[in-house]
Amino acid sequence: MLERCLALIALCIASSVAAAAGGGPLEPAHVNVHDRASLQRGARLFMNYCAGCHEARFMRYQRLARDLGLDEELVQRHLNFSGAPIGATMLNAMNPEQASEWFGAAPPDLSLTARAKYGGPDWIYTFLKSFYADESRPLGWNNRVLVNASMPHVLWELQGIQRPIYAAGHQGEASHVERLELVQPGKLSPEEYDRAIRDIAAFMAYMAEPAVLQREALGVWVLLYLALFTLLAWLLKREYWRDVH
Ligand code: HEC
Repeated sequence: MLERCLALIALCIASSVAAAAGGGPLEPAHVNVHDRASLQRGARLFMNYCAGCHEARFMRYQRLARDLGLDEELVQRHLNFSGAPIGATMLNAMNPEQASEWFGAAPPDLSLTARAKYGGPDWIYTFLKSFYADESRPLGWNNRVLVNASMPHVLWELQGIQRPIYAAGHQGEASHVERLELVQPGKLSPEEYDRAIRDIAAFMAYMAEPAVLQREALGVWVLLYLALFTLLAWLLKREYWRDVH
């Protein structure tokens, strides 16, 4: 029995390692969906740098305003560039067929990516850290986590430009990039850039499961209720047994 369990555990570990292969290990993003300031910064970056290509069809501007503690008017003015009403979902005007033609793949909807993708926010964080200049690609960019990605490095002005260091004997092979080296600094320092993409990953984690904010707040009340109920049950038991003794 024990042997079987161990075999199963080993299998799980092996398969998760295999899933990460190709891009090297994922870096932990340490996102905190309860850090409202982080979610607000993430929302701003997301709307400015991502929403032009990617939609989030399950997210409404109104919900975003409420959950992130933002004024609806402020959201309409500074975050909603589509001109859609506050009750609308986060769509854009990009035509998927045209997008495929431009980029080689249509930008997928990102509403649920943080939940659907292996690694979740860690994958997104590592992905946004792993773009590098590659002249053999149509748009001049490649990515260590999503090899031959069609997405260009939209945050390059913030991060700067990285170049790949290939494993010995694999010069120029995208699947053998050993590490990346920053050759041209961006507007942000590496620490600031990490924070920016952590905020984006946090916002995407929230977006994939907005109910997490309410559910955990509710959980506290459920636990308090259970504690109170346990106390009452104990008092009742003591009362009953008093007569028995
Ligand atoms: C210029 C258009 C464009 C912009 C802007 C853009 N992306 Fe993308 N993105 C793409 C395309 C195209 C793909 C598909 C890549 C592929 O499959 O090779 C993609 C893929 C992705 C994926 C992988 C999704 C999956 O399920 O495989 C993630 C995550 C992602 N983008 C996040 C972002 C984030 C976060 C931003 C903003 C910082 C952003 N993108 C901005 C075009 C864009």
